[in-house]
Amino acid sequence: MTAPVTVFGAGYVGLVTGVCLASSGHEVTVLDVDRDKVSGLASGHVPIHEPGLEDLLAKGLEQGNLRFRALDERQGLAPFVFVAVGTPPTSAGAADLSFVRDVVDLVAGEAGPGTLVVMKSTVPPGTGARFAGQLSACGALYASNPEFLREGSAVRDWFETDRIVIGGADEAVSLLASLYSDIDAPVVATDIGSAEMIKYASNAFLATKISFINEIATLCDLTGADVDQVARGVGMDGRIGEAFLRPGIGYGGSCFPKDTRALDFLAHLHGYDFHLLRAVIDVNARQRLLPVRALRAKIDCLEGVRVTVLGLTFKPDTDDVREAPAADICEMLVAEGALVTAYDPMAGTTPAGVTRAASLAEAVESAQAVVLATEWAEFTEADWAALAATMSGPRLVFDGRNALDPASVRAGGGDYLGVGRPTA
Ligand code: UGA
Repeated sequence: MTAPVTVFGAGYVGLVTGVCLASSGHEVTVLDVDRDKVSGLASGHVPIHEPGLEDLLAKGLEQGNLRFRALDERQGLAPFVFVAVGTPPTSAGAADLSFVRDVVDLVAGEAGPGTLVVMKSTVPPGTGARFAGQLSACGALYASNPEFLREGSAVRDWFETDRIVIGGADEAVSLLASLYSDIDAPVVATDIGSAEMIKYASNAFLATKISFINEIATLCDLTGADVDQVARGVGMDGRIGEAFLRPGIGYGGSCFPKDTRALDFLAHLHGYDFHLLRAVIDVNARQRLLPVRALRAKIDCLEGVRVTVLGLTFKPDTDDVREAPAADICEMLVAEGALVTAYDPMAGTTPAGVTRAASLAEAVESAQAVVLATEWAEFTEADWAALAATMSGPRLVFDGRNALDPASVRAGGGDYLGVGRPTA
């Protein structure tokens, strides 16, 4: 079936939601407070880098079943209302629900019997039950429907998801499941709080896998084992799985850091100390120190040393620099007095005190140390024997993602340093 849909928020989640729902044939209107963004989207301009999104947007605009409007120019609400506005972290680490609350208040004033309000924004367990109560006063239904989209593969993740989680009353669950009838994935029907917890638990578990393998990498460094071989052997156990066992300088982005802190905050709020999660967060913070520590161990003082940081985004194939390990690493290097150059093929901003190079070759040439912070294919597929040869002594190459071939770096005279990889 196809249906009219209103999406609140043209950010990352709202945009992907609106564009993908339109691609399934639904009549979608996406609302946002940012007029410039709305007019850009209405003329086919996608403000983020997300493979496949621009093509689907163009298709929706051409077919006429995808519209963008400024919030104050909306014309009523569709029977399906998706809430996809931000829940940024407060200074205490909690999820700031003010944008979500504003939208729910607005919807509660305009919705009627037959409206289904679908929460896409990540909200702490316990939040949605209150919204459901508020909305029931006007006869509207409520469902929690967390997203599991990864930046860089969000469109594919939307259509090829492992599961569709819907928390709510039976009527809300079956209504929303019918909207997704073209997606071939099992529907996990739960109560609202459990759906909310599934989102946090999923992100926290993936973050735990990353911090776990990073702890093992540290032990590999201390014992001489090779973490890449270890991760391969461990990940081949079907019960564990190979995904998210890539060691390095840790996770960043707009999701894992925020959601792990919000879950930790929630635990504290309930008087519980979530030891394991705290350790995951602490290990992740520590991983960012590794390159600076490694360089300091090799060169006593970094004052005046030319250091190049490769990659400013939190992972490859995105332009997103939010909570990227590279930002902290650049800040620490600048504070140490190093002369820091950075190169990234897509990041729109450069950390303070850092010079931006125009190409990989320019960035690496005559650098005394290189820190690979993001495993862009441009870096991993480069000829490192040739690149390292253009560096100046002591030619340190800290591979923060274990993504380079140590032998190539060494062939060019580079001193290769990885995370949990044996030194030559
Ligand atoms: C993550 C989840 O993977 C999505 O399922 C979820 O929907 C999303 O958060 C969200 O909550 O909105 P994303 O942040 O786009 O998606 O990126 P990931 O591919 O999960 O990577 C997150 C970070 O972990 C990156 O910094 C990456 O470099 C790091 N990572 C990932 C590792 O250090 N090691 C690994 O093995 C995997």
